[in-house]
Amino acid sequence: MEAKRIAAERAVDDVRDGMIVGLGTGSTAYYAIQRLGRLVQQGLSIQAIATSLQSEQLATQLGIPLVSFSEMTELDLTIDGADEVDSAFNLIKGGGGALLREKIVAAASKQLTIVVDEHKVVRQLGKFALPVEIVKFGYEATIRKLFQLGCEPILRARDGELYVTDNGNYIVDCSFNQIAAPVELHRELNLIPGVVDNGLFVGMTKKVIVGYDNGDVQVLE
Ligand code: 5RP
Repeated sequence: MEAKRIAAERAVDDVRDGMIVGLGTGSTAYYAIQRLGRLVQQGLSIQAIATSLQSEQLATQLGIPLVSFSEMTELDLTIDGADEVDSAFNLIKGGGGALLREKIVAAASKQLTIVVDEHKVVRQLGKFALPVEIVKFGYEATIRKLFQLGCEPILRARDGELYVTDNGNYIVDCSFNQIAAPVELHRELNLIPGVVDNGLFVGMTKKVIVGYDNGDVQVLE
């Protein structure tokens, strides 16, 4: 947890007065939102867009002013976590189920800073099952198509219930084991009817901050 906190808090150093900031989702992004909340209470003037209802609720509790896409066109900086990061800064995201909003917010941001602990840094993506968001209608057919791409697809459930995203969709966790060609896989997945988006983030970030268990932090650019 300490490694996550150190990385997330460092990312907040880049936030300036007047910025529109994207708030990520998950246990690492949580620390960035907490620090932003403290800075806002001390007078920092920002507006934010959250990538999940959970992060929106946290931001509201902390007094961080929120805006919507109808009020702005571009975010200055988004700070978010990831499940895996490779050396080319390709990512797997969506472990927390927020991949779609995370990708929409990241795509509208001038800069996406990814904050992770050292255990998320990998040589090749794929050990972490890739989350794919699919619509409920015909989900059995969509899952069969995912299987045909060579993965083991598991429909996500929590506490005995099917998991439903903030957008009212299902998540399928697809174990590929190794993802040798993330760009191609990203395209193939999103061509399947019923797939809304997948957790591969390719070419979306130029800055990754890694926190280490021994308290060190490394900024990779
Ligand atoms: C949520 C995400 C998270 O950023 C990712 O799962 C990492 O989570 P955590 O910081 O809790 O390890 O993509 O959809």
